[in-house]
Amino acid sequence: MEEKASMVHGVFTSVASSYDRMNDVMSFGVHRLWKAHLINCIRPRASERFLDVAGGTGDIAFAIGRAAEQEARRRRLPIDTRADVTVCDLTESMLVEGQARAQRLDVPYPQYQTRYSWLCGTATGLALPDRQFDCYTISFGLRNVDEPQKALNEAYRVLKPGGRFFCLEFSQVVLPGFDKLYDAYSFNVIPRMGQLVAGDRESYQYLVESIRKFAKQDALEDMMRQAGFERVSHTNLSGGIAAIHTGWRL
Ligand SMILES: C[S@@+](CC[C@H](N)C(=O)[O-])C[C@H]1O[C@@H](n2cnc3c(N)ncnc32)[C@H](O)[C@@H]1O
Repeated sequence: MEEKASMVHGVFTSVASSYDRMNDVMSFGVHRLWKAHLINCIRPRASERFLDVAGGTGDIAFAIGRAAEQEARRRRLPIDTRADVTVCDLTESMLVEGQARAQRLDVPYPQYQTRYSWLCGTATGLALPDRQFDCYTISFGLRNVDEPQKALNEAYRVLKPGGRFFCLEFSQVVLPGFDKLYDAYSFNVIPRMGQLVAGDRESYQYLVESIRKFAKQDALEDMMRQAGFERVSHTNLSGGIAAIHTGWRL
């Protein structure tokens, strides 16, 4: 494993068991709203195949599955119309947490129950054939990837023509004045919270630093176009703390 991938693997192995709790604590639950917004943009359908890369403990995969099941129920689709969701992640311990959560999922409509599969591997070299998926998602993952351009190229490769790409990621605050407040919170509070809640200051120091180093909105759009995506756009969330980038493989 390359140096950054190995470091990131160490970080997420260390935080896996406290990851879900820390997300709620650090963001005061706001990450749930951002993720719900992402699912609204996707509008998952039960007949589609989804790939959630850097899927971690499965937040996005389960939300896609739930929405697809509801859509099948609403449209009274034939029984056994099921979405396929593949979760791919570099860190086995994150996937183990996700698989445990999958066992505890409520399944209100078993006749439409989503099929989940779990793949341990890297976004930069997906062990998956070309043109397989209707939708590729990566949520709070791309900035952790050692070679993001390679990951975008891979996203394009595995999408079917007509397939859609969605990236939810921390981004650049665009509200004047708010950036200073956000910096103060990020650098002073988050590492301390990491120490208190997860007993791991260093991993959360990495988190805030990685956010500052990652491509800003326009730069990420350019990288997506370079990978081949068309109709590229982004929507800022919470003043640009996070953003959803979308594009199509046409
Ligand atoms: C912050 S978590 C995001 C988890 C989940 N998508 C969410 O939104 O809650 C980042 C995840 O990216 C994974 N990751 C980092 N580098 C990766 C790579 N090169 N390929 C695939 N997954 C990677 C980590 O193991 C970790 O589970």
